[in-house]
Amino acid sequence: MRAVTYDRYGGPEVMSLVEVPVPEPGEGQVRIRNRAAGLNPYDWHIYRADPALARTFSGWRTPGERVLGADVAGVVDAVGPGVIEFAVGDCVYGEIGFGACGDYTVAKSAGLARKPQSLSFTEAAAVPMAALTALQGLEAGRVSEGSRVLVIGASGGVGHMAVQLARVLRAARVVAVCSGRNASWVAELGADRVIDYTRERVEDCNEQFDVIVDLVATSTFRALAPLLDANGSYVLLGGIGGGKILGPLGGILRAQAVGLVKRRRVVQMTAKVLASDLTRIAAWIDDGRVRPVLDTVFPLERYRDALDLLEGGHVAGKVVVEVA
Ligand SMILES: NC(=O)c1ccc[n+]([C@@H]2O[C@H](COP(=O)([O-])OP(=O)(O)OC[C@H]3O[C@@H](n4cnc5c(N)ncnc54)[C@H](OP(=O)(O)O)[C@@H]3O)[C@@H](O)[C@H]2O)c1
Repeated sequence: MRAVTYDRYGGPEVMSLVEVPVPEPGEGQVRIRNRAAGLNPYDWHIYRADPALARTFSGWRTPGERVLGADVAGVVDAVGPGVIEFAVGDCVYGEIGFGACGDYTVAKSAGLARKPQSLSFTEAAAVPMAALTALQGLEAGRVSEGSRVLVIGASGGVGHMAVQLARVLRAARVVAVCSGRNASWVAELGADRVIDYTRERVEDCNEQFDVIVDLVATSTFRALAPLLDANGSYVLLGGIGGGKILGPLGGILRAQAVGLVKRRRVVQMTAKVLASDLTRIAAWIDDGRVRPVLDTVFPLERYRDALDLLEGGHVAGKVVVEVA
């Protein structure tokens, strides 16, 4: 089978599309005939070991041999011992960490769910990590009926899901921050107001929010705090830049310190791979309440072009690689 593999840290140049053996599913695993892989900043943080902190969980010297791609959609092709949730022929999607950019992969069945029926495999592969992060971030921020929500970084993978899922969670007002070129489609997804960060400072928006979901951390929490209701939550999920060693950790610690001083709730979280959340998200997609927006779809052979676009940091929605 074909797979995009790497065994040392670096940019897209350390990867190759090679022939590797078809993997066999172990205990609690299924084998998936991959149809599409969704790409995320997570992928390049790992293959570049950027920040270096990533090496603590992906290998100090080398990552070991890995197949690119954390988000997958495909068809169950074989089941390992102990798997009761899925059978051969089931259409699934999920976040599996590695292995999506290959013809087949094996994955723990506990991290997968049935693919939304209304989506193609290509569309479904765009959903898992972005939607899980958005949903769990909004829920950690206690978004509920009537909440006023600000999403900073609203045109990226997580952000465009956060705008829609805030509506699903019955937010009363959603304000989105992105560049002007993406403003119209982000508004169509459910944003009441779109702030073009290239023309207007979000700090000057003259509104109050119950929840701020920040995906870029280009403003400090000290600067954003006046926008947050006294009982509100600042949910810091990601960031552009940050140091090469600790990445966003420095900003997270600073935000938490400011939260203590200003008595504001600061939440930082890493999304969990929960099949139950993937199933909830699939139901909302099939109800027509949530949809993934695809920036560009690449064939597997053009994985380097896909990674270049991803690393540029201005993806409108998601980048997907079609495998089959
Ligand atoms: N905590 C977790 O578990 C978790 C999980 C997934 C992702 N993340 C992190 O969350 C962050 C976002 O992920 P993603 O998948 O959404 O990334 P993405 O798809 O690459 O989106 C990044 C978005 O940031 C926008 N952007 C760039 N500069 C901006 C600025 N100054 N103000 C507002 N928006 C700006 C870009 O929009 P324009 O093109 O309009 O500029 C782009 O659409 C990343 O740091 C990622 O590592 C965290």
